[in-house]
Amino acid sequence: MACMHLLLFLCSFSLTLQDHAPPRYNLSLDEPADHRWESVLKHYDYAYLRETMDFIFDAILPKWVHAIIRPLAEIDLALLVRDPYAGEIKGLARTLGVSIGDVMALNLCYEASAFCTSIVAQDKKGNIYHGRNLDYNFEDVLRNLTMDVDFIKNGKVVYTGTTFLGYVGLWTGISPLKFTVSGDARVHAEWWESAISALFKRSSPVSWLIRDTLNEARDFQAAALQLSKTPIIAQTYYIMGGTQPREGLVITRNRDGPADLWPLDPLTGQWFHVETNYDHWTTPPPSDDRRTPAIRAMNATGQENINIDTLFKVLSVKPVQNVNTIYTTVMSAAFPEQYITRIRDKI
Ligand SMILES: *[C@@H]1O[C@H](CO)[C@@H](O)[C@H](O)[C@H]1NC(C)=O
Ligand SMILES: *[C@@H]1O[C@H](CO)[C@@H](O)[C@H](O)[C@H]1NC(C)=O
Ligand SMILES: *[C@@H]1O[C@H](CO)[C@@H](O)[C@H](O)[C@H]1NC(C)=O
Repeated sequence: MACMHLLLFLCSFSLTLQDHAPPRYNLSLDEPADHRWESVLKHYDYAYLRETMDFIFDAILPKWVHAIIRPLAEIDLALLVRDPYAGEIKGLARTLGVSIGDVMALNLCYEASAFCTSIVAQDKKGNIYHGRNLDYNFEDVLRNLTMDVDFIKNGKVVYTGTTFLGYVGLWTGISPLKFTVSGDARVHAEWWESAISALFKRSSPVSWLIRDTLNEARDFQAAALQLSKTPIIAQTYYIMGGTQPREGLVITRNRDGPADLWPLDPLTGQWFHVETNYDHWTTPPPSDDRRTPAIRAMNATGQENINIDTLFKVLSVKPVQNVNTIYTTVMSAAFPEQYITRIRDKI
């Protein structure tokens, strides 16, 4: 018995030292919103989750935001946000034994300043591949809370995404046989001030619009339109891939609409686009240039060799992968069975 425990311990220990797949859960959209996360939560230690929340609040949440959001959410979360998000947040709070306001605040923390790299590319045959790194400050705890989720309706997967436990939005996802989406932060000063005021005007959190679009849009074009025009609480980049040649697009978003649309154009040599956290028409700051190394690695790979595996390798080149990289996802809308997320080793 002791031996068995030792083996299990060694196994889980070695896993934490290597890139590994996150857990993958089903979430039933047919269940009431305030109950549907229970089957996922039961895999976690609630005390550990509560500690994690406090840790993240201390590190990132401005006191004034906590002071505003907490009581308001307690009185009536529906004043602030719509369903299913309001219902899901209420259910998470009840199960975890924390206040509704704290779960709402946690969701806003996850919205703020995620540094990332996304790449969309087309191979010589016209297949579209899309990959992303998600970089964030609390990489140690968030590696532990990363999961792939299949969203199920009537016994079928309607969309799949990658998220952190307690976070009802998605920064990464696929609508099978239709399109893929990732979001990268478009950094600006006073994020909290503008995000909270936009939230009160009932604009959507950036990651909720990704989830809505995965749920609703019938094809790549409809998704591009929805992601371009729907008001959101913070400027951002949405990166998309489709199933047909040339269905690759980087949308640079202002809060109330698109600032720029940048489609793939393989005929003029633009067979891939790299988006990190800076407008593509500007030069990234030398202190945080993940774009040039990513482009160099894509050039070295070549259009004839790009696929799910080689794209993952490009996303593993330093500093595209860096100390804050929590996970890498590679995906292709036409091949939904190849939706692959790996939690990255600390480097
Ligand atoms: C990851 O989670 C386990 C419990 O599930 C915990 O023991 C461990 O300390 C966590 N790691 C970090 C870095 O928080
Ligand atoms: C998730 O749902 C799908 C579709 O209903 C089903 O085929 C699969 O077995 C479920 N997976 C788990 C782990 O329950
Ligand atoms: C990538 O290749 C393109 C086309 O050949 C070239 O214009 C560009 O300078 C290359 N970029 C890097 C960083 O190697």
